[in-house]
Amino acid sequence: MFENLKPLDPDPILGLINEFKADESSLKVDLGVGVYRNEQGKTPILEAVREAEQRRIREENTKEYLGGAGEVAYNQAMIKLLFGTDSAEVDNDRVRAVQTPGGCGALRVLAEFLVRCNPDATIWVSNPTWANHMPLLGEAGLKIREYPYYNYETHSIDFDEMMETLSHVGKGDLVLLHGCCHNPCGADLDETQWHALAKLANLKGFTPFIDIAYQGFGDGVEEDAIGVRVMANHVEEMVVAQSCSKNFGLYRERVGTAFILSKNTKQADIAYSQLLNVIRGMYSMPPAHGAAIVRRILEDEALKTMWMGEVAEMRHRIKTLRVELVKGLAASGFNRDFSFIERERGMFSFLGLDPEQVAILKKEHSIYMLGSSRVSIAGLNAGNMQYVLDSITKVLKND
Ligand SMILES: Cc1ncc(COP(=O)(O)O)c(C=O)c1O
Repeated sequence: MFENLKPLDPDPILGLINEFKADESSLKVDLGVGVYRNEQGKTPILEAVREAEQRRIREENTKEYLGGAGEVAYNQAMIKLLFGTDSAEVDNDRVRAVQTPGGCGALRVLAEFLVRCNPDATIWVSNPTWANHMPLLGEAGLKIREYPYYNYETHSIDFDEMMETLSHVGKGDLVLLHGCCHNPCGADLDETQWHALAKLANLKGFTPFIDIAYQGFGDGVEEDAIGVRVMANHVEEMVVAQSCSKNFGLYRERVGTAFILSKNTKQADIAYSQLLNVIRGMYSMPPAHGAAIVRRILEDEALKTMWMGEVAEMRHRIKTLRVELVKGLAASGFNRDFSFIERERGMFSFLGLDPEQVAILKKEHSIYMLGSSRVSIAGLNAGNMQYVLDSITKVLKND
């Protein structure tokens, strides 16, 4: 039966990774992959993670099944991290959380859950959004439509157009929002805009679906949760997919969380039973190791402080690189304003180059980024910054 299958092209990002690996240039620079890199170009294991992992290995005394919801103490710690320690919604027992295999796992189980709530549901996603949202949400059965978000001319959010489009979305449909550090554009909603969206959700009845994969990479661990908290404060129902891949550097351990906010405790219990049933039919139970590390970090004051410091270090490095990139581009003397890169948040920004310029940077300079000119800022470092600046300058001068 396999002869019926047609071969597929590799995923564009994975394809780019392979091209980069095969490139023999000693000058090559990877700005494509959405993974944090330090000054040495490495993705380090955080010290807090190392310490928690050693403790876990000493303390672990069974490999028994974990259960569909994962580790209960992890779920409680994640609720606190995201909703805060003084959340009325948590106090009123309206929030449920389950440990998932990464943020992707959370997105997919929530999508399956939402199709059970409404088989005809449409989810509205920002234009642009992370490419993997489409298969993760669409293949569960949600219909996908786009709302305007990023304006490539002004390099800012088209908030009025976004609100206008969403004012036609009603009950039974969903709106996907990036909690912070928008992937791919780096342009984030401010607190006032979150309030306006929360009001609109209440007025029109649509359900917010927040994806937060970079908590701590924008303005701070607490600050980056503001969108989730404002929304939770206003609406009766919402769902949130969270990832520990980036902020705990636990990419390959697959740690994430799916949250459901319900109207009341009774509804929360019903929703939770459905979510567990979805999980049972998909992968039965999440893996234990990564979440056990995260739980240990969040429960231990000293480890948590160490982790917060390491997240701050990653955040500050990205911000500094943004400033240096803008300064360097300004110094190259052409009449183009790149200051938006400094205003944007998290790992990603569009440089504003066209696909042909992106192709020249790859072919002639061995600098790799997505075709949209999305760059992962953490791929820059003191060793390659000037080379990247000179290469971009050359490409733009030939424009
Ligand atoms: C916007 C967004 N959501 C979710 C994820 C999922 O991350 P993971 O499944 O690796 O935890 C990512 C990862 O790149 C992302 O960029």
